[in-house]
Amino acid sequence: MSATAVPATRFKHANLKVLLGNDLPPSPPATEDLSSNSTDSAYISDGEPVTIPLPPPSNIATAVLDLDKATPDSHVPRDHRLIRLTGVHPFNVEPPLNDLFENGFLTPPELFFVRNHGPVPQICEQDVANWDFSIEGLVERPMMVSLKQLISEFEQITIPATLVCAGNRRKEQNQVRKSNGFSWGPSGLSTALFTGVLMSQVLQRARPTRRAKFVCMEGCDKLPNGSYGTSIRLSLAMDPAKGVMLAHMMNGEQLTLDHGLPLRVVVPGQIGGRSVKWLRRLILTDTPSENWYHIFDNRVLPTSVSPEEASNNHSWWKDERYVIKDLNVNSAIARPAHNEKVSAKETDTYVAKGYAYAGGGRRVSRVEVSLDKGRTWRLADIDYPEDLYRDADDYIIYNSRLDMGWRDTCFCWCFWSIDIPIVDLKNASDIVVRAMDEAMNLQPKDMYWSVLGMMNNPWFRVVIHAEGDEIWFEHPTLPALMPGGWMERVQAAGGDLTNGAWGEKIGDGQSVVVKATEIKMTNDAVKRDISIEELQQHGESPWFVVDGNVYDGTAYLNEHPGGPGSIIAAAGLDVTEEFTAIHSEVAKAMMSKYHIGSLDAAGRAVLHGNDEAVADDDSPSFLDRRAWKPATLISKVHVSWDTRLFTFSLSRADQVIGLPIGQHLLMRVRHPKTQEIILRAYTPISETSKRGVVDVLVKLYLGSDTRAGGKMTMALDALPIHSTIDFKGPLGRFEYLGRGRVLLSDKPAHHVSTFVMICGGSGITPIFQVLRAIMQDDGDRTQCVVLDGNRRVEDILCRQELDGFVAIGGTTKCKIIHTLSQPGDEEGWSGLRGRIDQKLIREHAGGLVRDDTMVLVCGPDALEKNVHSILLDEGWKEEQLVFF
Ligand code: MTE
Repeated sequence: MSATAVPATRFKHANLKVLLGNDLPPSPPATEDLSSNSTDSAYISDGEPVTIPLPPPSNIATAVLDLDKATPDSHVPRDHRLIRLTGVHPFNVEPPLNDLFENGFLTPPELFFVRNHGPVPQICEQDVANWDFSIEGLVERPMMVSLKQLISEFEQITIPATLVCAGNRRKEQNQVRKSNGFSWGPSGLSTALFTGVLMSQVLQRARPTRRAKFVCMEGCDKLPNGSYGTSIRLSLAMDPAKGVMLAHMMNGEQLTLDHGLPLRVVVPGQIGGRSVKWLRRLILTDTPSENWYHIFDNRVLPTSVSPEEASNNHSWWKDERYVIKDLNVNSAIARPAHNEKVSAKETDTYVAKGYAYAGGGRRVSRVEVSLDKGRTWRLADIDYPEDLYRDADDYIIYNSRLDMGWRDTCFCWCFWSIDIPIVDLKNASDIVVRAMDEAMNLQPKDMYWSVLGMMNNPWFRVVIHAEGDEIWFEHPTLPALMPGGWMERVQAAGGDLTNGAWGEKIGDGQSVVVKATEIKMTNDAVKRDISIEELQQHGESPWFVVDGNVYDGTAYLNEHPGGPGSIIAAAGLDVTEEFTAIHSEVAKAMMSKYHIGSLDAAGRAVLHGNDEAVADDDSPSFLDRRAWKPATLISKVHVSWDTRLFTFSLSRADQVIGLPIGQHLLMRVRHPKTQEIILRAYTPISETSKRGVVDVLVKLYLGSDTRAGGKMTMALDALPIHSTIDFKGPLGRFEYLGRGRVLLSDKPAHHVSTFVMICGGSGITPIFQVLRAIMQDDGDRTQCVVLDGNRRVEDILCRQELDGFVAIGGTTKCKIIHTLSQPGDEEGWSGLRGRIDQKLIREHAGGLVRDDTMVLVCGPDALEKNVHSILLDEGWKEEQLVFF
């Protein structure tokens, strides 16, 4: 296969003609070619007008995203809206649920979900023209079939089919207990019109023997365990009613690289994993596929099999009873969307909507919605757009025959909707949906957790929050690592998601508290005992202690997101408390690599209690990286309804805080009721030269009846004046030395002539420090462009000071753009509306993509993640971006 990939331009069927010569089949006789219409097509059938859905206008990506340029998929153009579920590579993505749903029945190929186990093969135009595949194994006439032959010698048909990944909705399973799979939201499915040839017709030509029971299929992707392959039953492939086909087009266009260019299998009604892409081999056998991906993927093992048991005992994987074949019945709510708000005052009705599907060609026969946790159910309307094609049977579309009229099988998703009086929503605490198929298979209330987290189909539940005159909705999860959703919230508050009541209080009002999953941070092969003397000799190559175990952080110094300082600060200390509070499960799982021994008993006795805060002190600056220092709360000012300015007095009146510009400090408090220790990083707002006190601006995460408040901010807000809390620091990878000079991980970075500063909400604080340092120094000619996103006007922090900087520095040195994400009628607001998105960034910072610029970003996770991919997309290099 050639190394030149298909160019970004796309060619429709006419171009296939150019590539494949004049071998295309003559158009079957027909009354009308539907594909000439670009939108829904209306025409007369037996005197009756019929409308069929045609694909929405596609806008197939033609450019390779910067994000992909450094990966093995640097030849694959893609759409930036797709949500990446496994980092940058391999490409496993789903569209945002809103985009998927708004596009309606057919999904444009650029938004169609993608599941790639590895790199996309390099396939060029010449490869397409010469493409062939084998039919081998238990057949009388083994043969090679070329794509040209497939198109010219077999009847071409088009059918609509929905592909669904078996992992659809897996994030909900991962929320209950981490499975061995990544976190799909509810958009792991998409629908297209597929054009090609029924597999049965092609197999018949090779004459399967009587012993043949399975069709094994193989792609040409090169994966760690060979090419991707799987099998289906031969009886399924040979049954024309089931629609198993070899497809070369979707929605009237050649397949895209991600979706199997130039030829893929489509198995309607079964999980997407059986629809092999980049097809090279069909092998008929009397036993199921032995391909690694068939054995170790796409199975639902018994719920009692733990991840450890599954990896130790391979017999589970070879048991055919656990293979997934047909899709199970499933549904989800799209409207209300996550975070959607509606006015609760209205006397009106709300139209709730969503999708449903079933497997094996079975039809969804009912969809029901409950507003009282399943005690009573209301029947929703179901719309099956697929049926419209049945009436248009035998018509010609994309030079093929629309082959639907005679089928009684269902290949696609359907849409449900129901009118609900707003007052009913207001009086309910949640809305749940369930679907049933024509075999009376019903979605269960409870989840069936399994080690691969597949086929998740419990009732889809959206929580309703009533706040004043508004109600807003909370979906169970958001895809990938995106924070949010009621499952995460309930779990963080100690609720047991498996208690049969979605983690809510039951019976005596007590919710069972679920134990956090234990992550193994040690290496069993490490047996060494380490003394306190040896531990403390390693200042330069920092050894530190977590839970009595000693770790060597040297190899991780440069990669640590908190900068090398934060590991060096831990050298020789027991940092169990802050390590446990701050680090994610993923970070914890990495620790076994750095485990070098255990601290001996004498060492533990010495270190124990070492963590008390020490009031000193003779030092001119307050902060110490290696010890907690107490400071006393002397004032708390209400800056706005949810923002407080806390002022703490330091150890001495002449002391400065000792915080380099752009760095942050740790604050440690005890929860007033539970006495739990809580730690968070903050950047103070006071000038670093201020003596005797430090000011910290904190946005409170206030709770409501149904939502717990932020632990740290609630504990801070509850602090009585004159109480003390502990500080430690500084920490951070970035430091601003002034006049364009920057240190990154303690090393000088390139000289900066312009900073683009992007922040959301309280993310302004570290940015504010840098901005102020620049504006207050007349000799500092560094320019700053600040994009500050907030929900409402009253949420904008430090607005007066920011305006003041523009006044001092002038608009050339300092440009500040505020944008508000929540609609409102704030009087006099002449600023921008909307979130910080690609358009805004391009408009205000697009011309600044140069080697001497740097971007500082601070805000909620979702903002940082979104901005990150936009910046890379716009041409910034990773090393120019700093995330606080
Ligand atoms: N075929 C090949 N060759 N390689 C793959 O990684 N993934 C499978 C299937 N076919 C895969 C493949 C899985 S698990 C799914 S869900 C579908 O492709 C997804 O199809 P799509 O990426 O076109 O949406």
